[in-house]
Order: sequence, then structure tokens, then C-alpha cells
Amino acid sequence: MLMLGREGFILDLGWIEDWSALEQYLPFANLALAADNGAFFLAQAMAVCPRSLLQVQKRVFSVHHGTALTRQLCFYDGWALDYEQDVAVLQYQAPQLSAACLASVFPATPHEALVLDVACGTGLVAQELQALGFCRFHGVDGSQGMLECACRKGIYQELQSCMLGHEPLPAPTGHYDAVLIVGALSEGQVPSTVVPELLRVAKPGGFLCLTTRCNASNMKYMTQLQHILDDLEHQGLWEKVLVQEVDKWEIATSEQESMQDSGYISGVIYVYRKGLSHMLSSS
Ligand SMILES: C[S@@+](CC[C@H](N)C(=O)[O-])C[C@H]1O[C@@H](n2cnc3c(N)ncnc32)[C@H](O)[C@@H]1O
Repeated sequence: MLMLGREGFILDLGWIEDWSALEQYLPFANLALAADNGAFFLAQAMAVCPRSLLQVQKRVFSVHHGTALTRQLCFYDGWALDYEQDVAVLQYQAPQLSAACLASVFPATPHEALVLDVACGTGLVAQELQALGFCRFHGVDGSQGMLECACRKGIYQELQSCMLGHEPLPAPTGHYDAVLIVGALSEGQVPSTVVPELLRVAKPGGFLCLTTRCNASNMKYMTQLQHILDDLEHQGLWEKVLVQEVDKWEIATSEQESMQDSGYISGVIYVYRKGLSHMLSSS
């Protein structure tokens, strides 16, 4: 299957095996569906304006309602160029708030700190941290499209592809002063079982900043995540430094997801500090 892109290039969308799932991709932009010799083509209108809130809500709905990982990452590949514009429409605040939380507990000299931005996407988190004095960034993500956008920002010294939950982080044990994962610990994205691997690559005494969403469809995931966080704390492998609950994490994608009819979903930011005497082996 081919999609005629906004700039006129053609993208191969042969990975769409389940045609019933096509609906989730339609809100991408102004799309027209046409048939040609029995094959389907998606033609994307040449001039695409910033999408309305409703269009963005439909598009993000599928991210919040977990699909298979490969499909999810293909979704991000196709979303990469519009991602920042769309999340601004949703008033997504996680990168800015997480960077502020980390900076608030980080000891002096952030410019010397080596930071790993896990599921870095287009690089919003590193951008926020850079504004707060951090300047040494490595990033990993499973979506090539998102990595390319992050690379264009020119703020990461290293960017690597990694399918979190399927392969270990491409980093030695005890390597980073800070490890962040923002906007990716949720149903259908990065499994909560990845947390010990994040802890592995942090230096003893290093900081970890994690976020998750509290919308209805993520509650089971959030409970599992909470067990893992608490368990690592009970084992003395890290200590909780800060928990910040955020009522207006981003605009909800549906009425059911909205918290107390506010129109928003809430989220939470956790900051932990790795114990000085414990080193985890690779998981
Ligand atoms: C909502 S975006 C967040 C990006 C960035 N951290 C931010 O806050 O703007 C989620 C990112 O996680 C990545 N991702 C989701 N699941 C993943 C997985 N299992 N392995 C690697 N990357 C994943 C996606 O490709 C996407 O770039």
C-alpha cells in the first residue's frame, strides 16, 4: 500500500495487514481514499493545515489504546513530522514538567551530567533539559521516524534504535548520571518490566525520572508499574526522591478518558535515585 505524502513523496505502507485497523490512521491528516486497479491508495492532500483538536484526539486515541508494538512504532514513524505540532494542540506538558522535576533535585553541574533519554521521540525532553543547563544527551527510541526528527535537532551526541522490552538498552551498566523515560510507560508502548533495565544503566547515585498516565485505559498498567517501582525500593536498589501528580497532563482523547469531566487526563512523574552500593546485572 502506498501513501502520497504531504511533500509529494510516496511512502510504502505495506505493513498495514489488518485493513479494519486502517481507520486509526485516517485522522493523520486530510486523507482521501481511492481505489486504483483494485489496490488501495491513500492520497494525502498537498496542503495540510495544523489539525484541529478533534483530529488530534482521534489520532492519539490509538496510542492510548495499545496496539501491537510493531504497529505502534509504525504509527510513530508516520506521526513523527507532525508529532510536536499535535502534542502542542493536546497541551502535552510531560517533557517540560519532567525536566523541571529532574533539575529541581539534581545536584550542581548539570552540564557535566550524561543523560539517557529513553523513548526520546523527537527530542522534546532533551530540548527542555538543555534549557536548564544539561548538555550531554544520548537517546534511544524504537521508531526510526522519531529518531530522525530528534537527530535533526542536533542536541544528542548519540541516538540509537532500541525495541524496549525486546532488547536491552545499548549501554553499559552504571553509565548515566540521569535516565529519563517520558510519555512512553503506558499500555501498548514500553512494558513496565523495562524499569530494572533503566536502573541498570544508571550510575550508582544517578537519577531516574519516569512518567505514566492515569487515564482509565492505563490503570492496569499503572498498577503493575507501581508494584515494580515499590519492589525495587523495598530491595533497596533505589530511593524515591519525588512524586509529582499532574492533573492536566494533556487533553483527553475521549469523554471516557477524561478525569472527573475536566476534559483532561492526569499523569504522574516519579524521580528515584539509584543506591550507591548496588549494581544490577543486565536483564
Ligand atoms: C509519546 S512519545 C514520547 C516521546 C518523548 N519522550 C516525549 O515526551 O515527547 C513515545 C515514544 O516512545 C517510543 N516507543 C513506544 N514504545 C516503544 C518501545 N517498546 N520501544 C522503543 N520505543 C518505543 C515511540 O516511538 C515514541 O517515540
